[in-house]
Amino acid sequence: MLVRKHSALRSWVVALCAIGWGALVIGGCSEESRYQVLSFFFEGVPKPGEKAQWQQVVHEPRRPPGPKSTPTPVAVAAIPKPKYPPGWLLALVKTLPHDTAGYPDMVAAFKEKKIDPLPGPEQDHVVPKPKKVDEEEITLIKTGKTKCSFSHQVHTTLITCKSCHSAIFKMTIGEKLSMDDCATCHEKIAFPIKGECVRCHPAMKKKAPKEPPKEKLLEGEVKMVRAKSSEAPSMGIPPATFPHLAHRVNYRCYACHPTIFPMKQDDKKPITMENITDGKSCGVCHNGKIAFAGDDLGTCSRCHY
Ligand code: HEC
Ligand code: HEC
Ligand code: HEC
Ligand code: HEC
Ligand code: HEC
Ligand code: HEC
Repeated sequence: MLVRKHSALRSWVVALCAIGWGALVIGGCSEESRYQVLSFFFEGVPKPGEKAQWQQVVHEPRRPPGPKSTPTPVAVAAIPKPKYPPGWLLALVKTLPHDTAGYPDMVAAFKEKKIDPLPGPEQDHVVPKPKKVDEEEITLIKTGKTKCSFSHQVHTTLITCKSCHSAIFKMTIGEKLSMDDCATCHEKIAFPIKGECVRCHPAMKKKAPKEPPKEKLLEGEVKMVRAKSSEAPSMGIPPATFPHLAHRVNYRCYACHPTIFPMKQDDKKPITMENITDGKSCGVCHNGKIAFAGDDLGTCSRCHY
């Protein structure tokens, strides 16, 4: 026990002497001797009179770097042009060719590329070739002497087979047809029966327009039916109106029929605003990206009028 105490005391004395000696050498001696002592222990000690030079430590890579890959250019999103400025529809319709009855001739407009309706809601659809039916031009002369011509190719460029067969027409020849069947569309959406007869009855004479064609818009407005469960009528919001013209110049009929909406009123499920804000029905496009959104209070009256 005693021996241990003694040796501990001795090592304390030695340590204190060493520190004192070191402090004397570094602090109290001449610059020359300080340099000699310090440079014995450390690298890069400045010589007396020389200023310390700090150098950045550079770590050399262990392996030489590979060839530099050229960075792929990041596509800068193009700022979309205001595609639908106020009054765009009337301005567009004014540029379209008209038939002699004064209605916009959508077939000519399509051929002249005045309109280029998309086949689906997305902008990057591949346009499918119109399906040909064996007998492209079916002449329907079943009842009278008026010879009505019906072109499958004109119709299938815009409309899918399902919308007509067998929702409106049976897939047969010889069925007795009336103008009423055609009037499902040829009234307010496509050129009307009371319009230019020769477009359906090629044997009839083409009438020269007595006066220049007037602006007759085929708005094709459909008043939508309200869901019975809705409490909306008491809120005084009129049922929504769907205008075909604004849509058909942008999209082919099969962009919507029958994938998003049925043509016939009977088999449809009433739409609610919840459907729309969930991205269904009108909300497929009216989401603020493709067309104005449905949940913006400023837009309610654009659909409810
Ligand atoms: C705009 C409406 C419409 C569309 C769209 C349409 N058809 Fe027709 N189709 C008709 C009418 C009208 C007839 C004649 C019916 C009659 O005479 O009774 C007909 C007749 C037919 C016939 C019977 C004629 C024959 O040559 O035997 C076939 C087959 C047919 N369609 C197939 C098709 C196919 C396939 C498509 C889709 C690629 C299609 N149709 C799209 C209206 C349409
Ligand atoms: C499902 C809707 C639909 C039905 C049903 C329909 N059509 Fe059409 N038809 C159209 C559309 C849309 C066009 C394109 C022209 C337009 O919109 O004015 C068109 C164009 C035509 C054209 C071309 C005119 C031209 O200038 O080249 C003829 C002819 C025609 N339809 C005849 C008929 C006849 C006849 C029937 C009835 C047997 C019929 N259509 C039934 C939607 C329809
Ligand atoms: C969208 C196409 C379409 C247009 C436009 C159209 N018709 Fe027709 N028309 C038909 C079809 C389809 C029939 C029935 C088949 C048939 O008789 O050839 C028909 C039948 C007729 C018939 C025979 C009716 C019967 O009971 O015998 C007369 C007459 C006729 N149309 C006159 C006209 C006149 C006039 C016009 C112009 C004001 C006109 N149509 C415009 C499609 C059309
Ligand atoms: C893109 C067109 C569109 C816009 C914009 C729109 N709605 Fe609708 N809304 C519809 C359609 C379509 C229906 C179904 C038919 C109907 O009930 O009028 C509907 C139905 C309704 C209903 C009854 C069904 C239900 O959900 O209870 C109410 C209430 C309603 N909308 C309120 C509004 C309000 C409030 C706004 C504005 C914040 C608005 N809508 C904006 C298209 C639209
Ligand atoms: C942007 C979508 C859209 C496009 C494109 C479209 N429709 Fe419609 N269509 C509708 C809606 C929505 C209704 C109403 C359905 C309902 O009442 O549930 C409708 C209803 C109809 C009806 C029934 C009209 C009535 O009074 O009941 C016909 C016929 C029709 N469309 C034909 C066409 C034809 C032909 C084209 C192409 C020229 C076309 N649609 C393009 C959305 C569209
Ligand atoms: C396939 C896409 C699509 C669908 C589905 C669709 N719309 Fe549109 N709608 C458009 C585009 C694109 C416009 C033009 C954009 C604009 O006016 O800001 C438009 C414009 C409109 C306009 C303004 C027309 C004008 O004169 O400026 C109304 C009203 C409208 N839509 C109602 C509806 C209603 C109601 C529905 C559902 C029943 C519907 N839309 C479904 C794409 C669509």
